[in-house]
Amino acid sequence: MTHLPFAELHLHLEGTLEPELVMELARRNDVTLPYRDVEELRAAYAFRDLQSFLDLYYANMAVLRTRQDFADMTAAYLARAATAGVRHAEIMFDPQAHLVRGVPLEVVVEGIASVLATSEDDHGVSTLLIAAFLRDRPEDEALDVLDRLLARGAPIAGIGLDSAEVGNPPARFARLFARAREAGLHLVAHAGEEGPASYVTDALDVLGVERIDHGIRSLDDDALVARLVAEQVPMTVCPLSNVALRAVDTLADHPVVEMLERGLNVSVHSDDPAYFGGYLDDNLDALGSSLGLTREQRIRLAENSVRSSFLPADRREELLAQIAAASA
Ligand code: ADE
Ligand code: ZN
Repeated sequence: MTHLPFAELHLHLEGTLEPELVMELARRNDVTLPYRDVEELRAAYAFRDLQSFLDLYYANMAVLRTRQDFADMTAAYLARAATAGVRHAEIMFDPQAHLVRGVPLEVVVEGIASVLATSEDDHGVSTLLIAAFLRDRPEDEALDVLDRLLARGAPIAGIGLDSAEVGNPPARFARLFARAREAGLHLVAHAGEEGPASYVTDALDVLGVERIDHGIRSLDDDALVARLVAEQVPMTVCPLSNVALRAVDTLADHPVVEMLERGLNVSVHSDDPAYFGGYLDDNLDALGSSLGLTREQRIRLAENSVRSSFLPADRREELLAQIAAASA
């Protein structure tokens, strides 16, 4: 039962950069970091909130310089995800975080895409790529980057919205999401991670997103919960992340099982696994021990992950059949 087939729908590629790989890439690229070794770096992985994590997450990206670096990070993630039961992954990356450091867009996109191209053959994991935009930077910059991605024919299936949430409401990015929709892209956004339930409503109504990343603060608003249940809006919940960033006190307090039982369309994901203590399997195992996640609930989470994906109907059916077979 430990390895039901899953779709990973909430995963930041740069958040899979394990401390060992950070140090290796720093050596390879002659980048000086304020840590002597992996242990010192690992000791910095103690967060007070989202911002304290983001500071380290962006700082560590300094080691990513070449196509090969992006390819190595991507390959390491896919190999690890496959062992967790992931059979499909919709992977976010942060193009602006690299552009502002002077790393060209093509280095980032080509490095990642070169590995995704053979992921099904190499790891048995189908993939889609989502360009996530930083909500604490100007919308005009995001529009420019989106235009450049589209002009280059970058293999992106959708856009997302991430980074510091409070004070950066979805409505600031209405033009960006309208343009992405016109381009035929899928739309997702982080909302209700640290920010209020109203950000979830605005992500749906102003941005028109198809999926909410996190969304746990929706529980503060009963009318919103009723709507999310009625519309079966997909919500990608990341328990280990929420505890690491103190959005939730402990795993035993995490609302994901309550959300499932209230009829919300939730699935469990790993967010930034290198920083928060684990991958998809680790999140599920932690819920098993702290919240007594049942076999039946685990199967529902697997099914929801596939149904909430952007996969075509035939591949969804294939994965749902694999879940049924694995849980029989
Ligand atoms: N970027 C990477 N991880 C994130 C998270 N958990 N929330 C917002 N932005 C992020
Ligand atoms: Zn996230």
